[in-house]
Amino acid sequence: MNDQLWWQRGVIYQVYPRSFQDSNHDGLGDLPGIESRLDYLARLGIEAIWLSPIFPSPMADFGYDVADYTAVNPIFGDMDNFDRLLAAAHERGLKLLLDLVPNHTSDQHLWFEESRASRDNPKRDWYIWRDSAQDGGPPNNWLSYFGGPAWTFDERTGQYYLHQFVTKQPELNYRHPEVLPAMLDVMRFWLDKGVDGFRVDVIWLMLKDDALRDEPPNPLWDGVNPHDSLLHIYTQDLPGVHEIIRSMRGMLDDYEGRMMVGEIYLPLAKLMAYYGRSSDECHQPYNFQLINTPWTATAVRTAVDEYEAVLPDGAWPNWVLGNHDQKRTASRVGFEQARVANMLLLTLRGTPTLYYGEEIGMTNVPIPPECVQDPPALLQPEIAELIGRDPVRTPMQWDGSANAGFTASGVTPWLPVAPDYATVNVARQDQDPFSMLRFVRQLLHLRRSEPALHSGSLQTIPLDNDGLFAYRRTYPEADSFLVMLNFGEKSLQVDLGSVAAKATITLTTRLDRSGAVDLASLRVAANEGLVLRLPLAQRQS
Ligand code: GLC
Repeated sequence: MNDQLWWQRGVIYQVYPRSFQDSNHDGLGDLPGIESRLDYLARLGIEAIWLSPIFPSPMADFGYDVADYTAVNPIFGDMDNFDRLLAAAHERGLKLLLDLVPNHTSDQHLWFEESRASRDNPKRDWYIWRDSAQDGGPPNNWLSYFGGPAWTFDERTGQYYLHQFVTKQPELNYRHPEVLPAMLDVMRFWLDKGVDGFRVDVIWLMLKDDALRDEPPNPLWDGVNPHDSLLHIYTQDLPGVHEIIRSMRGMLDDYEGRMMVGEIYLPLAKLMAYYGRSSDECHQPYNFQLINTPWTATAVRTAVDEYEAVLPDGAWPNWVLGNHDQKRTASRVGFEQARVANMLLLTLRGTPTLYYGEEIGMTNVPIPPECVQDPPALLQPEIAELIGRDPVRTPMQWDGSANAGFTASGVTPWLPVAPDYATVNVARQDQDPFSMLRFVRQLLHLRRSEPALHSGSLQTIPLDNDGLFAYRRTYPEADSFLVMLNFGEKSLQVDLGSVAAKATITLTTRLDRSGAVDLASLRVAANEGLVLRLPLAQRQS
């Protein structure tokens, strides 16, 4: 065994609670539902579960508008259900991460109700209030991610408040000395219960320019999403945010074995700063390179090399392919290629986060206009295709029964079940020896048992074929592995004789071959990925 920590060794699996498993037939997933699927998750071979927000919320942004940070939303269950879920996860050796949303609350949070009550309320400056500009409009040109200005006028006290998402998500003011301590108390509440850490929502947005300067136009704007029309230099990545994160981390470190992942969409150089100068910020600043990189072997290889090259000393890498805000992998790269994508995600160096349903190849589900729920899609229907997230949040496909086993037959789920559920589901793939699920499960178990795959170093291998991406994972005194991925539709041959003469196929994406191969003339089928073992004995000889 090696001395890596659980959050370095293992895989994080993201559960979107509304869509995972409904236990009380209201069409919405819930905590007892998740508990009933823990055996599935344990058997899959993941290490930790991250739950998107489970807190009381009017659901203006599906839980990312929190009305009470230290309670459970009745639609998901109650605190007993949570305690049981946590204990049941721990019994199975699974860790549990919660989603902390510190940047903004719901407008129905008591803090905001007090803040908006009067200009002299003690909580007034817990949020960001400003007078109108001289023309009566918003105080500056800042924009909401979801469309329109980032400011809403509140008649009662005659001022605007700031919100970078929907109007019902007012932003907390971390320049007020009481706000951070209040958020640290929230963290303590859950850590005392034994949660293993947090995924922290929009952590890089937590501080805003105090002078509220206008943001400059983005000269590279493509004219599509209005939010991209400005350069967000006064609402994102302000230097002072690091101090806030250090305080959060300092508090977390009072507890043993906990961790913090930060949601951060920034270019690499800036992203690295979120590890902290002395590794005292996020254990994992989320690395979204794979989401933002064109799906070609060359582009992905470059992204991997660049990321590895800029990682600070001692910083542990992480990789993400999908989440509740991003397109489904199988829709983006194709159903067959999605296996290659999963092989990549699960064999790169660092901690992968796997979004629910990606292990069976769930795709973006077309949402009829009358069923659209997601605020950005409703607010900007003209670009709903681009920014709407309902298609990636549909019910988990458990089996071929009505409603895919997510909820009882006859119940209307909150979002439509995918049309392909009769063929793409857990039960069916469990029976099929060549399925995506069988492949992912085998890969997760292989990853767990092989030090090179969960903890080893990574070295990309130059190839003279730009349809392929290859890398080697190596760990002292252990077998090493070659990963070979074909990103295209054509079968290709490659010469890897310089690495070794022979290797053994340990796993393929298609689960259809094994045994020794000659590396000098290795054939890789279309859309195929291979994990090849280079035994320690062979390396030493
Ligand atoms: C994060 C969440 C997203 C949410 C937004 C506002 O980006 O991942 O789902 O809408 O924050 O909280």
